[in-house]
Amino acid sequence: MSETTLIDNVIPRTDIVKRAARIGAEIRNIKLSSDLPDQTIAALNSLLLDHKVIFFRDQGHLDDAEQERFAARFGKLVPHPMLGVAKGTASLLELDSARGGGRADVWHADGTFADSYPKILVLRAVVIPLFGGDTVWSNAAAAYLDLPPPLQRLADELWAVHSNVFDYAGMARVREVDKKHFDEVFTRTNFETEHPVVRVHPETGERTLVLGALVQRFLGIPKYDGQKLLDVFQSHITAPENTVRWNWREGDVAIWDNRATHHYAVNDYGDQHRVVRRATIEGDVPVSIDGRCSVTRVRSPSSGPMKTA
Ligand SMILES: [Fe+2]
Repeated sequence: MSETTLIDNVIPRTDIVKRAARIGAEIRNIKLSSDLPDQTIAALNSLLLDHKVIFFRDQGHLDDAEQERFAARFGKLVPHPMLGVAKGTASLLELDSARGGGRADVWHADGTFADSYPKILVLRAVVIPLFGGDTVWSNAAAAYLDLPPPLQRLADELWAVHSNVFDYAGMARVREVDKKHFDEVFTRTNFETEHPVVRVHPETGERTLVLGALVQRFLGIPKYDGQKLLDVFQSHITAPENTVRWNWREGDVAIWDNRATHHYAVNDYGDQHRVVRRATIEGDVPVSIDGRCSVTRVRSPSSGPMKTA
């Protein structure tokens, strides 16, 4: 059965509403649950591969346990390697604006400090502010295709070191409380991983850019030149035409393909409370266009405050 037939059989075309030309679709009239038929899960996975991020309103029936069981239909659930799990759950990551660490206002793909970083994330809105707090996703496959061919060839060859050690000097809006939280929790273990700048998507075969805020440097490129190169590539990822922006309501669920997207949580809700919970599906190790795999070079306990300059 073709992919199109598969989707048509279980999700009517009229229930698939694109939210931007290049990325993002809202799927209507479906109640997410762990006991959806295999065919429906397969159709959702196809829609995810097509649209990169898919949105669902009105999923307030999901609790933590059912979110985990539903997410587990897409692969193996894994906890965050440093941040621990939300109380009472097996694997969920809670991002709570009141407790630090919840403001991911930099462009990134989740977990690229590790080699086999997550492939799919299932995010559920629990407490949403009256205004602000949207999330923006970008299409990292379209960003690659937008590069002029000489820059594509350069990207094809480049490798970058990603690390969880944050460069605070490069972050415009970091608060002391968040900095302390990151120092204490997020960098408890240091990772440094080399990823190809262009990976081949294991399910679609698309070439996607693997960059974002966790990039520390490019292999074989001095830092000064590397920063300019990163700016050029990154500008194609973050071009507004390449993105979709979601205005959350409580009970919403977003599922994104972390192998083919970057995202940014807009930090424009002041002191209002915002809580989202994330289920994480284990990913595979990226493979470059010439068949080489990403590799984690450093994985060590932190020995005090990080310096990244
Ligand atoms: Fe994230």
